[in-house]
Amino acid sequence: MFASKALRRAGCACLMASLTGAWAQPVPSINSGGVVNAASFAPGAPLAPGSIASAYGNFLLSAPSAAAAAPLPTNLGGLSLAFGAADAPLFYASGTQVNLQIPWELAGEQALVTASLAGQTSSPQTVNLASFAPGIFSMNGQGFGPGAIQDSTYQLIAASNPAGAGATVILIYCTGLGAVTNQPQTGAASPSSPLAATRTTPTVTIGNVPAQVEWSGLAPGSVGLYQVNVLVPANAPTGNAVPVVVSIGGTNSNAVEIAVQPPTADQRAAQLLTQMTQDQKIQLVYGAVTSTTAPARGEAGVVQGIPALGIPNLYLADGSVGVGNAVGQATALPSSIASAASWDVSEAYKYGTVIGAELRAYGMNVNLGGNINLIGREPRDGRTFETKGEDPILAGKITAAHINAIQAQHVIGGIKHYALNDQESGRTTADVEIDERGMRESDLLAFEIGVKDSHVQSVMCAYNLVNDVYNCENAHLLNDILKGDWQFPGFVMSDWGATHSTVNAALNGLDQEQPDNAYFGSLGQAVSSGQVPQSRLDDMVHRILRAMYAAGLFDYPESLGPIDTATDQAIAQEAEQQGAVLLKNAGGQLPLNAATVKSIAIIGSHADIGVLSGGGSAQVTPTGGPILTEGYPCPPCWSQVIWDPSSPMQAIQAMAPNASVQFDPGTNAATAAALAAASQVAIVFVSQWTSEGMDMPSLNFTDAIHTPPIDQDGLVAAVAAANPQTIVVMENASAQVMPWLGSVSAVLEAWFPGQQGGPAIANLLFGAVNPSGKLPITFPASVNQLPRPVIAQPPDGTTPFPVNYSEGFNVGYKWYDSQGLTPLFPFGFGLSYTTFAFSNAAVIDNLTSSNPNFQVTFNLTNTGSVAGAEVAQVYVALPASTGEPPKRLVGWLKVSVQPGAMLAAAIEVDANDSSHPLSYWDVNSNAWLMAPGVYTVYLGDSSSGASLVVAGTLQVGS
Ligand code: BGC
Repeated sequence: MFASKALRRAGCACLMASLTGAWAQPVPSINSGGVVNAASFAPGAPLAPGSIASAYGNFLLSAPSAAAAAPLPTNLGGLSLAFGAADAPLFYASGTQVNLQIPWELAGEQALVTASLAGQTSSPQTVNLASFAPGIFSMNGQGFGPGAIQDSTYQLIAASNPAGAGATVILIYCTGLGAVTNQPQTGAASPSSPLAATRTTPTVTIGNVPAQVEWSGLAPGSVGLYQVNVLVPANAPTGNAVPVVVSIGGTNSNAVEIAVQPPTADQRAAQLLTQMTQDQKIQLVYGAVTSTTAPARGEAGVVQGIPALGIPNLYLADGSVGVGNAVGQATALPSSIASAASWDVSEAYKYGTVIGAELRAYGMNVNLGGNINLIGREPRDGRTFETKGEDPILAGKITAAHINAIQAQHVIGGIKHYALNDQESGRTTADVEIDERGMRESDLLAFEIGVKDSHVQSVMCAYNLVNDVYNCENAHLLNDILKGDWQFPGFVMSDWGATHSTVNAALNGLDQEQPDNAYFGSLGQAVSSGQVPQSRLDDMVHRILRAMYAAGLFDYPESLGPIDTATDQAIAQEAEQQGAVLLKNAGGQLPLNAATVKSIAIIGSHADIGVLSGGGSAQVTPTGGPILTEGYPCPPCWSQVIWDPSSPMQAIQAMAPNASVQFDPGTNAATAAALAAASQVAIVFVSQWTSEGMDMPSLNFTDAIHTPPIDQDGLVAAVAAANPQTIVVMENASAQVMPWLGSVSAVLEAWFPGQQGGPAIANLLFGAVNPSGKLPITFPASVNQLPRPVIAQPPDGTTPFPVNYSEGFNVGYKWYDSQGLTPLFPFGFGLSYTTFAFSNAAVIDNLTSSNPNFQVTFNLTNTGSVAGAEVAQVYVALPASTGEPPKRLVGWLKVSVQPGAMLAAAIEVDANDSSHPLSYWDVNSNAWLMAPGVYTVYLGDSSSGASLVVAGTLQVGS
């Protein structure tokens, strides 16, 4: 009927006016120059098809409309806005403003705009349309939608959401980029697929640095909004206010500021992954059997790098007690268990520094250290010297300190052997049976603390099975717990030859096979056949690359050089001095008085020339070379006995230059006793060699080295019978029984003391250093007190056999407590040349604060006559309703006190600590929970009930 929309509107306006009589509908108007791009936020920007604009005027809508959603209506509350022949889609209208999308149809340079309301039409305004009109923009989804103009600040990336230079692709949402391919219907939301791309690609600068635009088109699901994907340039300036500008057709947008930071390890790994071929990815997930890029360096394993992508070779080397394998001569530190016996995490950090620095000097960039298996379950385990004792918290914190120090040297740290790898007998087939709560609160807790407190980048899965599943394909341990509950972001590598499958292992959490590719050699096939998703392979590689970035392997390229022997040996000596434990000192036998001692008999264990070290993959070849090697005992049949070049006898003679110091090898008890009888003091060195690949036949000082074996217990008894002033120095790895304990006057637990063991032992014996170590493992009265008096043995080399951990979480002192057993020496025990007294113990309860914790406050007085250090230990008894063992260690503090001085101290225990100090594992909710009830807090100098006082109680719940 009507020739055009304009005419139709004019007709309606007349009709309305005549019907309303006295009330006259005002004629809507559009201000001259009142149609602007993106309203006032981009003043002066030209209008362009598809872009969002505002029209200002007087339309006299009595109330603002609601914001409209796509597909946008062309009439809001009766108001419409025509651009020539096309009605514009509208977002919003009020009495004075309309927000709209410029119709796509308008390719022309000029359009006549009119507003119509209730039959009346405004006079037309002429607007000029450009091809492009960069205007306001927003980022990363903020201000997204038909309201890119809704956000009033336009500071759209916060510092908490920084973009990584060289790694992050940011999404810019903006208006005005002009014509697109696949142009959607005007007013309709842009479809997700196929996406409409801009015909002209804009340019973007970030911090004035040109950035690579990866895609530019319409923002999916929105109206009139464009999306530009742009990679933040690697050389973009960093900071919280880096300007981003979009330009098109010679026009610049307004600038918005974003936060740009150096990229995270995750961002860099993700970025590098996109550049890798499938073959390159596969290359990183196993040990290279033969390597074309990695020259051999005596490592335990190697992963071939990809020079074209700048990915360095991975050189893997053991290092629980110093650099292992055939890498080269390195500082032989005292055993890891000695480091734990220091109960001092800053000492432990120094210990880790030696390992990290020497690995790096040798070009090793992955450490296979961090042995955290809780050998309290089986103190006869041959690898005890590599571990950190029986308590999950002590072991976790000491291990974390080692790993933190190692990773600070730009070496990927490792923690092993995950999990429950507590005996060497049948280690590849032992099938540990244990309930969920039992493992969560014991061995797994040690790993949890170690992983969380150190941000360790690699975890080695163990040889054995747990609840019928091999560790390296155990989805519950690897996927559910390690990568799930604990959010471990690094990679899982297999122990050497501990992989049993390709698809199962990959799906269930193994990221890297070592030392070869027996199974992961066919991973590529498994991916192409769909048995292993590509995303899983990508995850494996991402984890490995991420570890390399996080530890600094890309940013701190290898720098080979000599090790710093002087510094490292000083730390080795300090670690031994802090970790040796004085177990007996009857009648003040020690310290020896250099001024008065006239003659000393040194007996046994090659104490004239050296000290013993532990065998297996953790074996260190000491700097200067072994002073003595004694074959390859069987079992394990492959590890050599190495005596480190550090003579206790020489050091003792140096301490007492005027004394006659004589040596007897201890191979004949009668001659040893004769020398002892002729000497003022006898010092018997007893030793128990242990190694990976074997367990000790008993907890006595058996002799695994010689044939026929030296009866060391008999030797001590004979010497003690000949001279009441007999001091025993023990070089061993674990708990021992001591049938001769009652007849000797002093006992020093020196562990495997490392290559500064000689001077360290002499300093301790003569009081130049006051012993302050505490046992990190309970010494039972006999093997009959152990959870398993007889070690379960494998039926053959291949058949899994059960090892039942029915003791669950009752490991170490918790076992003895729960069974009412009195051990020979309790966990946490150690003497000093001085004495200490605790007083005024009290508990401050902050459990209901936002940072729930409690503090044990106390005074510690040195009641003796020499300076010394005490380890104050806090144990807690959980409410009986939890069924927990009688007490658990929750905190400690090692403090030095001058003679006669009193020190006020406090130990804070954070309820949310990674050690879950006040919680139990609830199997129903699969979570750590705090039970309501009364918690008793104890303070003392060992775990023995007799040495503890009640500091106070905590009430949880009502
Ligand atoms: C041990 C690991 C060690 C690996 C490489 C295995 O036999 O169990 O602890 O890291 O060898 O030497």
